[in-house]
Amino acid sequence: MGYKEVYAEWQADPNGFWMRAAEGIDWVQKPSKALFGENAPLYEWFADAQVNTCWNAVDRHVEAGRGEQLAIIHDSPITHSTKGITYRELRDRVASLAGALRAKGVEKGDRVIIYMPMIPEALEAMLACARLGAIHSVVFGGFAAHELAVRINDAKPKAIIAASCGLEPGRVVHYKPLLDRAIEEATHKPDFCVIFQREQEVAKLIEGRDFAWHTFQYGVEPADCVPVEGNHPAYILYTSGTTGAPKGVVRPTAGHMVALHWTMKAIYDIDPGDVFWAASDVGWVVGHSYICYAPLIVGATTIVFEGKPVGMPDAGVFWRVIQNHKVKSFFTAPTALRAIKREDPEGQLIGEYNLRSLQALYLAGERADPDTVQWAQRHLDVPVVDHWWQTETGWAIAANPLGIEELPTKVGSPSVPMPGYDVQVLDEGGHPVPAGTLGAIAVKLPLPPGTLPTLWNAEDRFRKSYLEHFPGYYETGDAGFVDEDGYLYIMARTDDVINVAGHRLSTGAMEEVLASHPDVAECAVIGVSDKLKGQAPLGFLCLNKGATKPAPEIIKECVGLVREQIGPVAAFKLACVVDRLPKTRSGKILRGTMVKIADGEDFKMPATIDDPAILDEIAGALKGLGLPAA
Ligand code: COA
Ligand code: AMP
Repeated sequence: MGYKEVYAEWQADPNGFWMRAAEGIDWVQKPSKALFGENAPLYEWFADAQVNTCWNAVDRHVEAGRGEQLAIIHDSPITHSTKGITYRELRDRVASLAGALRAKGVEKGDRVIIYMPMIPEALEAMLACARLGAIHSVVFGGFAAHELAVRINDAKPKAIIAASCGLEPGRVVHYKPLLDRAIEEATHKPDFCVIFQREQEVAKLIEGRDFAWHTFQYGVEPADCVPVEGNHPAYILYTSGTTGAPKGVVRPTAGHMVALHWTMKAIYDIDPGDVFWAASDVGWVVGHSYICYAPLIVGATTIVFEGKPVGMPDAGVFWRVIQNHKVKSFFTAPTALRAIKREDPEGQLIGEYNLRSLQALYLAGERADPDTVQWAQRHLDVPVVDHWWQTETGWAIAANPLGIEELPTKVGSPSVPMPGYDVQVLDEGGHPVPAGTLGAIAVKLPLPPGTLPTLWNAEDRFRKSYLEHFPGYYETGDAGFVDEDGYLYIMARTDDVINVAGHRLSTGAMEEVLASHPDVAECAVIGVSDKLKGQAPLGFLCLNKGATKPAPEIIKECVGLVREQIGPVAAFKLACVVDRLPKTRSGKILRGTMVKIADGEDFKMPATIDDPAILDEIAGALKGLGLPAA
C-alpha cells in the first residue's frame, strides 16, 4: 500500500486504523475502542486500557530475547567516551532506580522533575518514572534557575532528579547550584532530590534532602511495572507560549505509545534491532519521542549524544557517530547542518567516513531552508526528509513516510499530512482557502493518538490557546499554504513564538524580563533572521525619563538579565534603545513591521499605525546594530 491508500484507509475508518496500530503494544488490558469523544472538543484515546510504558520500552524486549542487544549507546565527544547499555542492563538499572524512588514514597500520579544533561541516566530516570506511573517533567539544561522554579511551582513534583553538572564546550554547567537556587525560589518544595554525581564535578549534597544516585538505590527492592489507565499522563513537557508562563503539554500514556510505535516504521523505516539517532536533547520533545521512547518501544538501539555538531574536534563528528554505530536513520535540526556546512562547505569531512549504513536524514524543529536541504542531498546521497511537528503533537503532522512509500521531495516543504491529521489552511474567518493561498494552519479535531489532550492544570488556557479561534479545529500557531499536490509549506508563526537554533522561545517571556529592569519603561522583542540559527532575538528598549545609567550599560545589564532569568539558551545578545515603539492607534506594538525592517524586506505601511515617523527611528537604531545585514 502506498501513502495515498494508507491515508485513505485512516480517513475511511480512523478507529479501525488506530486499533490495528495498537496491536504493536503489549496491553495489560486491551482498550475497548480507540477514540473517546464524550467530552468533545476534548478527546482521549484508548482511555479504558491498562498498560505500562516502561514494560513496552524495556522489559518486553528482554522477554522476547533481545536482552543482549544494545538499547542505548552513549557517545560523548566532550568526555571522549562511548558506552553501551543492553536491554537487560537497562531493565535492571531502571527497576532499581524505580524501586528506590518508590521506597521514598513516589507513586503513580506523583510528578518528578528531571534536570539532566545528555547521559543515559536521563533516560533511565524517565523510564523509572514510567515504570511507577509517576509523571515526569524534563527541564532542558540550558534554562536558568528561575525557569526551573516556574516549572517546579506548576508541576509540584514530589522529587527532583538531577545531575551534578552538564558539559558545554569549554565550560562546566553547574546544575546543582542552579537546582538549589530554583528550589529556594519556588514556593513548592520537593520532598527529596536524587543527584547523579558526574566525575567532572561532584556536587555538595544537602543532608536530608539530597541523595546520591547510587547510595540511594543500595539495598532496595527493584520495582515491577505498574499498569496505568490509557489516558494517564505519561509526562508533562513545558513549552513556550505567547506569555512568560510556559504551557505544560500533557502526553497521554497509551496514545503516545501507539502513535510512536506506528511512526518508527511508517515514517523512519526502523525495525527492531536497527540503530536510530536523533541528535537533539532530552529536554525537548524530539528527545522525549525519538531519543527515549520511540526507538525503545520498537526495540531499536538509540544514541544519546553529548556534544555539538562542530568543534568536536571538527565538523565531522556527526559522520563519525553514524559510521561507528552504524546508524540507519538520523534526525537533526537544520541549524546543526548549517553549522556544519559553514565549516565544511564542500562536504570534505563527509567523504572521510563510511556512511553506508545511513538510509535517510530527517530534519525538524524549524523551517528547513532549501540551501541546507540541497547541500545535504548532494553530499549524503540519501533521502532528506523535512518533517513538521510540535511539542503539542509529539510526532510529525506532515512528513515523507519512507517506511510506507518514498514520495517525491519538494524542497521547502515537509511533504504531506500523516494519517490522523486532517490539515486545513484557513482564513481569518475560519474558511478553508484555495491551494497556494497563505493562511493559518489548523488540524480538524480530533487530533490523533499521542497528541496533547489538555495543558497541565490549565484546561481553560488549552481551550483558549488552541480550540477557540477556529471552532472544530486545533490551531497550530503556524502559517503557510498547501500546493495543488497537497504538499504543505510552513512559513511563519502566527504568535510571538520564535525559533532560535531549533529551540522554541517566547518573545513575551523575554519582554517580561526586560521590563523588570528599573530603567526600562517599555520594550519589545522580535525574532530577526539569522544565517546560522534561523532566528535571533532582538530587543528594543524605551528607557524611563531620568534613567540612572548610560544606554550601553543598561543594554548590557538587560542582556545579562535574560541569560540569568531565562538561560543561555535564549541566546539574547542584541538590543538597542529607542525613544518610542511603533504602535497601532489602539496601542498594539507593530512587531511584524519591525521584523520586516530588520530583515531588509519590503513592507506595507500599516494602515492603523499611530505615527509613521517612528519607523525611521527604528530603522536608524537597527542600522546601528548592522541590520539588515548586507
Ligand atoms: N545546558 C546548558 N547550557 C546550554 C545547553 C545545555 N544543555 N545547551 C545550550 N546551552 C548554552 C550554550 O552553551 C550557549 O551558551 P553561550 O551563550 O555561553 O555560548 C547557549 O546556550 C546557546 O546554545 P546553542 O543554541 O547550542 O548555540 P551554540 O552557539 O552553542 O551552537 C549550534 C550553535 C548551531 C551548533 C547549536 O545551536 C546546535 O547544535 N543546534 C541544534 C539544536 C537542536 O538540535 N535542537 C533540537 C531541536 S530538534
Ligand atoms: P517545538 O514545539 O519546539 O517542536 O516547535 C514547534 C514549532 O517549530 C512549529 O510550530 C513550527 O513553527 C516550527 N517547526 C518545527 N518543524 C518545522 C518544519 N519542519 N518546518 C517549519 N517549521 C517547523
